[in-house]
Amino acid sequence: MRQAGRYLPEYRAMRERFDFLELCRNPEAAAEVTLQPVDRLGVDAAILFADILLIVEPLDVGLEFPRGEGPLIQRPLRDEAQIARLRPIDVASAVPFVFEAARRVKQALAGRVPLIGFAGAPFTVASYVVEGGASRDYLATKRLMRETPNAWHRLMTLLADATAAYLNGQIAAGAAVVQLFDSWVGALAPDDYRAFVLPHTRAVIAALTPGTPVIHFGTGTAGLLPLLREAGGDVIGLDWRVDLDAGWRAVGEDVGVQGNLDPGALLSPPAAFEPAVRSILRRAGGRPGHIFNLGHGVLPSTPVEHVKALVEMVHELSSR
Ligand code: CP3
Repeated sequence: MRQAGRYLPEYRAMRERFDFLELCRNPEAAAEVTLQPVDRLGVDAAILFADILLIVEPLDVGLEFPRGEGPLIQRPLRDEAQIARLRPIDVASAVPFVFEAARRVKQALAGRVPLIGFAGAPFTVASYVVEGGASRDYLATKRLMRETPNAWHRLMTLLADATAAYLNGQIAAGAAVVQLFDSWVGALAPDDYRAFVLPHTRAVIAALTPGTPVIHFGTGTAGLLPLLREAGGDVIGLDWRVDLDAGWRAVGEDVGVQGNLDPGALLSPPAAFEPAVRSILRRAGGRPGHIFNLGHGVLPSTPVEHVKALVEMVHELSSR
């Protein structure tokens, strides 16, 4: 999940010097931020510092990250004519800095831990460019898909092509694993996921460089897990609203799972979150194919010592 961020004092210090997009566009600084959690926490993988929305900049929608808020799209895409005019995204010229950051991280890690690359899945990225930012109900997105399905599929095809290129570029630059974030897909009814989303997510995964494991993640997906699996991925990411063993059964025991501690648990001291950690490990039952993780990203108000204690706790409990 997201492991760099505002809960880390050294990240906040970097953000004093650079705004968010400047940080993403500066490979040296992005590489440094990528390595911060690895050095500080002892986690088992580095997650490239970038964002899922960087690839939409060439669509000229006016991407911004105002301080202290989520992403903002100044000119959201709402109608068929706007979408008909969009040109394919040239990823190599749009985000060369992301690939350069990945190369630097890979070199700096010198094999210590693997690098995880990532992108947003087409639905979650589309939801930002259609809604204009974060949303509660995704009503504009749902209207677009139902009322103008041709425009919706055109937008999703364009995003799917860009996403595959974005991930393949990260793989070429040194990512050993890639994660596809469909963070907000839990807003959809299963039939809508099948008709409007699944084919596009599947197309992204099918277009990836063979041999690189893919983690496919969403939140609020308890009712969608078999469909997420059908769309693809070697590992399915689970949020905390499902028991890990039940989630694993739902996706099938022949794929791996990642998850699924409630990020809110880390606001409490280690003794208070230890039972939840033990429960997850018990449900995983020592079977191969479980990646311990949070069920979503680290919350900004989390004490960094709690995150460090979690890493030590998981290493200790799972080595027995
Ligand atoms: O080390 C890491 O984990 C790296 C980085 C990472 C970021 N964005 C950097 C970031 C990852 C994996 C992402 C993915 C991302 N971005 C997702 C999918 C994962 C998820 O959280 O569901 C989404 C939905 C986005 C879009 C996005 N970018 C949002 C919703 C926000 C605001 C979140 C917040 O905490 O306010 C961002 C900004 C963002 N991307 C931050 C970071 C570290 C916070 C920026 C800041 O204020 O400094």
